[in-house]
Amino acid sequence: MADSGTPFSRRPFLEAELYRSTAVAGRERQLYAPRFWHPVAPLASLPEGSALALELLDLPLLLCHPPGGPPRAFINRCPHRGVALLPPAAAAQTCRRLVCPYHGWTYDLDGRLRAAAREGEFTGAFSRHDWPLIALASAVRGSMLWVAIGPDPLPLEQQLDLVEQELGGSLERPRVLLASLESELACNWKIAHDNTLDDYHVAIAHPTTLHRQQGPVRLYRHRFAENANLLATPVSSPGRSEPARATATAAATEFLTFGAPPWIHLLAWPDGRLALISFPPLAQGRCRLQVWLLGDPSQRPYGQRWIEELRAFLEEDRALVESAQRGYASGLTPGPAHRLERRILHHQALYARIMELEPPPPAPA
Ligand code: FES
Ligand SMILES: [Fe+2]
Repeated sequence: MADSGTPFSRRPFLEAELYRSTAVAGRERQLYAPRFWHPVAPLASLPEGSALALELLDLPLLLCHPPGGPPRAFINRCPHRGVALLPPAAAAQTCRRLVCPYHGWTYDLDGRLRAAAREGEFTGAFSRHDWPLIALASAVRGSMLWVAIGPDPLPLEQQLDLVEQELGGSLERPRVLLASLESELACNWKIAHDNTLDDYHVAIAHPTTLHRQQGPVRLYRHRFAENANLLATPVSSPGRSEPARATATAAATEFLTFGAPPWIHLLAWPDGRLALISFPPLAQGRCRLQVWLLGDPSQRPYGQRWIEELRAFLEEDRALVESAQRGYASGLTPGPAHRLERRILHHQALYARIMELEPPPPAPA
């Protein structure tokens, strides 16, 4: 897709009502979220023979890694009477079987029912085969486990189209979790996502943090694909931090910031480290902020320092996005879009298409 003169670059911003309506949030859950894959955990945090329960949107998830097989994702509900098999936790637990705490139905990590208490005494015919856990599609990409919550998601390579084009095989370099952070923001996810796509505010709002990393605005390079977009900024050797300089490859010289649906951002440094940022919506107009910092095991000593650098500019953003949400809630009509806000417009055009906010173009005569 061309960088300028395209329809998305001439759009107005989405109207404020879309950022405060519970009906719109419900429609996003039905139409928008199921179209995409959702990053849920680093693969290295779910070793073979372990399971992890967590929440994604309104769904309780159970991630399992059966020995010798790929990781699996299930709904964390026992098919007998709906009880969760494991409580949500920060870390995976080692296990061979999952035993329901209510009546003891026992599953393997492939989701098959292996035993039920007093199995010969059900009131009707009973076969273990008929009662597996409900599975969701899952995939591994960029050392993360991704889950689809609808029956017909866009292929993950398409969702990450520009990421795949720019990073190529290096996306698949095995990485471990160096550090992570999670918190809640008092704003609609679109305010947080727009803000992270906003290349107009960085020099003003982050003069001593992100702006130092990204450098002069005149050197910004943008790219737009069908689904993802990119801001690339040069990394100059004198500006590199000590650990970055120690592990940088000669070929890669840019810091890449991708925006992709549904609400994710991927930051890639020349030294091979990646940060995945996600803003899944929560109830009552809030959203979660999740950050996973991934890299080579040799970068572990720097993980905490790097995540604190990310936290510094994300906390600067918190005050701004929560204030912008109050502005949007007041019934504001958003002002004109700047050239450095085209990544926002690019994503909003995709959102409008999936949410069916506009009539489809007329069919060719
Ligand atoms: S709800 Fe799990 S065994 Fe009854
Ligand atoms: Fe920001």
